[in-house]
Amino acid sequence: MQIGFGAFGATHLRAWRGLGLADRLVIADPSAMARAQAAQLGAECRQVADYREALADCTAVDILTPTHLHHAIARQALDAGKPVFIEKPVVATVAQARDLAAQTSNVVMAGYYFRFHPKSLELRRQIEAGELGTLRLLNGRFAGFKRTRKDSGALHNDAVHFLDLFCWLVGSLPDRVFAVTRDHFSRGMDDLALIVVEWNDGPVGQIEAGYVQPGRWPDAVVPGAITSKEIAVSGSSGAVEIDYAAETYMEHRVAHEDSAGVWKPRFAAPAAPRKVAAADAVAVLAAELSEFLRRIETGDRPVGFAGDGLDGGLNMALLLEATETAAREKRVVSLQG
Ligand SMILES: NC(=O)c1ccc[n+]([C@@H]2O[C@H](COP(=O)([O-])OP(=O)(O)OC[C@H]3O[C@@H](n4cnc5c(N)ncnc54)[C@H](O)[C@@H]3O)[C@@H](O)[C@H]2O)c1
Repeated sequence: MQIGFGAFGATHLRAWRGLGLADRLVIADPSAMARAQAAQLGAECRQVADYREALADCTAVDILTPTHLHHAIARQALDAGKPVFIEKPVVATVAQARDLAAQTSNVVMAGYYFRFHPKSLELRRQIEAGELGTLRLLNGRFAGFKRTRKDSGALHNDAVHFLDLFCWLVGSLPDRVFAVTRDHFSRGMDDLALIVVEWNDGPVGQIEAGYVQPGRWPDAVVPGAITSKEIAVSGSSGAVEIDYAAETYMEHRVAHEDSAGVWKPRFAAPAAPRKVAAADAVAVLAAELSEFLRRIETGDRPVGFAGDGLDGGLNMALLLEATETAAREKRVVSLQG
């Protein structure tokens, strides 16, 4: 059952259809307008206003309501014995994340889109194969002129994508974080977030997210927005730049060498754009949902950064809370202990 049919609803429906499961899909949304849209796009699906009507009979639950409802719906679904997929930012608080992570009887998977993007997968392969050397810096920009959301600010809604991606690439939570956030619209939520994370004896990460600065491309998910979704990951023997909107993957094979006391970059090859499969949102989401189904079938649980019982959701809740503390108290916050 797909719970929620808002702006992202059609993409989930199309992904379920791509997996050949739309004719078994129930769509739940209390909004008559959302259900009318769902009926138009998914004539083969059953519609309900209240997900509780269909909970007992469904085999799995896909939650894409506003964030503040994620935990309560997930808890009810788990209590009914159903595996759960939850869109980012998964939950609103660490307490909610702990509650979901503590249960072991069923699969709970967090919807972190960028882990399933072909370009992220290629970058992770290169990092694991040692092709970039020792990681030094991860830069990310998830920013551009865009409408605000009512359920979360730039940190929880946007920066969370690259915070998760960076932790997933490095394989662990950072050891400390510092952040500056701003609420220019006086909504009680940030519309600009600048974050620095540091791993002991490891790389530094830096993320800019927000709606008050220019982006580069028409946003694929939010109509009328102009945004950038790009990262640059640098190591001791190479770097990769990915622009997810422009679908480019640029590789730099370069290492610095000491030349009579001057450290000079030595280029093993000219920077080269690489062809890595392009991905539309439906295909990436179908890959996520297919992994969800595989875990239900096999009972597999992720390991590493993602292995916290909530597929990284608890780790991410801890990191988001530490980031908020850092911004509020204007200090570096440790994530150890
Ligand atoms: N992974 C990504 O790239 C990505 C992209 C967009 C949105 N999202 C996430 O997906 C979620 C939904 O985003 P959206 O843009 O579709 O939100 P939205 O606000 O446009 O839509 C939310 C929908 O949930 C419905 N809803 C509210 N209460 C409900 C209930 N009790 N039961 C069922 N439905 C209910 C609303 O009527 C609405 O139709 C959010 O958590 C968001 O962060 C993820």
